[in-house]
Amino acid sequence: ATRTPFIAGNWKMNLDHLQAIAFVQKLHWSLKDAKHGDDSVEVGLFPPFTDLRTVQTLLDADKIPFALGGQDLSTKDSGAYTGEISGAFLAKLACRYVIIGHSERREYHAESDEVVAEKVKAALRHGLVPVICVGETSEDLEKFGASAVPVGQLQVALDGVASSADIVVAYEPVWAIGSGQAATPEQAQDVCAKLRDVIADKLGADAAARTRVLYGGSVKAANIASFMREPDVDGALVGGASLVVDEFSAIVRFQ
Ligand code: G3H
Repeated sequence: ATRTPFIAGNWKMNLDHLQAIAFVQKLHWSLKDAKHGDDSVEVGLFPPFTDLRTVQTLLDADKIPFALGGQDLSTKDSGAYTGEISGAFLAKLACRYVIIGHSERREYHAESDEVVAEKVKAALRHGLVPVICVGETSEDLEKFGASAVPVGQLQVALDGVASSADIVVAYEPVWAIGSGQAATPEQAQDVCAKLRDVIADKLGADAAARTRVLYGGSVKAANIASFMREPDVDGALVGGASLVVDEFSAIVRFQ
């Protein structure tokens, strides 16, 4: 495929800004002779908000070719919204990406498909690339099968999005997140292909051909290659394994 593989590390609520310095330096060192930052594979880091300034400064100073992103953003642009973070702030910190609708936001912060759709628009307003997360719980899987819920979530998330929009989609079955029980490559391929069909339907064939669809959920060095062999899986959204330098480095070197 012509799509550049994307390996994204979602730190979740781990690594403070001081720990982040040591981590990013070690990761950069570990990837020094790896091919990344060019067309072969893009590496993205999604630290907590309070780390972004520090990590951005470090990436800039040492010319480290990792893309940066936030883990969430506000639907609003500015104003009296205590505790919220505007997409404008992320853009000013040189973030290229922002994760939207992660299952932990949906579950612990009651983010509905409609809120996710508003956040997608907020990200695009500020020139950020939304990494739109969708996925079924184990109950959904039993009741509806694997694809119905993520397909429905993505349909709503893409409502009103322009066909020229730059987006990333991440399929994360909730039962696979942090469980050590990854989906099989075949399961991931099946749902990722259906999500690509949704992109084609809502944004057109060109968008479907260029948009990266990631798999996430217990990705590690030992299984990354099996996912990357699938034609509709263009990378991974990595949680736990993105916090271990050698493991994440091996994931980036999947080829
Ligand atoms: O955003 C990342 C996912 O939630 C996957 O987490 O790799 O720890 O299963 P995990």
